[in-house]
Amino acid sequence: MKIDILTLFPRMFDNILDESMLKIAQKKKKVTIKTHNLRDWTSDTHKTADDRPYGGGSGMVMKIEPICKALSTLLGKKRIREFAGKASTPKGISVILLTPSGKRFTQKTARKLSKLKHMILICGHYEGIDERVRLFVTEELSIGDYIMTGGEIPAMVIVDSVTRLIPGVLGDKRSLSRESFDDNLLEYPQYTRPKDFDGLKVPEVLLSGNHKAIDEWRKSESLKKTREIRGDLFRRTTKVK
Ligand SMILES: C[S@@+](CC[C@H](N)C(=O)[O-])C[C@H]1O[C@@H](n2cnc3c(N)ncnc32)[C@H](O)[C@@H]1O
Repeated sequence: MKIDILTLFPRMFDNILDESMLKIAQKKKKVTIKTHNLRDWTSDTHKTADDRPYGGGSGMVMKIEPICKALSTLLGKKRIREFAGKASTPKGISVILLTPSGKRFTQKTARKLSKLKHMILICGHYEGIDERVRLFVTEELSIGDYIMTGGEIPAMVIVDSVTRLIPGVLGDKRSLSRESFDDNLLEYPQYTRPKDFDGLKVPEVLLSGNHKAIDEWRKSESLKKTREIRGDLFRRTTKVK
């Protein structure tokens, strides 16, 4: 997969892209991730990428021109016109605007995006982005009901959770097989050595070697944990069944 990130703060991504799973995924050539400075597509000497809002109000708004020029460079001029006003995603390509007013990003969305060939993420900053940019994107995503300073951290959230789902990125396939949010359930509790830490013992069943009993225990703990912590998910699970 190819991932392009359009941002005014590309350096924010340096460390995260050069550590852990994201570093390995790039090294294994499962994903190519590039950050692009939107100021490279500005046309004045000051490299202005934002301006005052029409109608007044506080803060600055990111301009449409650098974003559309960047999309033209990445996708070709004709291509970005095809996206205008369309709700559906053209095959294999998604242009995603990070915005608190977007659709909530979930594990299901991450799975869908992990099948793309090309994903472009547009990070807003300041008071947000000129509304007309919405006409050039295929999706608008929010990472939750709170306001971040910019779209950079939300973009990192998406890049990380999508990349780990690309086949071949995680060595052990089982790591993905039973994780929180699959089937609307939270993951069962996990333990490692020592068996006894200051009287805090690992549940006996996990030491028993009885795989059937372990599976049953995990399933029931997963349901219990979901009911206790995420009643909304639990109700969805029990409704589906
Ligand atoms: C300070 S926010 C702008 C908030 C905007 N004035 C509003 O009230 O909706 C600046 C940028 O951060 C990003 N952002 C902030 N919160 C986000 C969230 N929960 N999910 C995705 N992106 C977010 C968006 O790209 C947004 O354009």
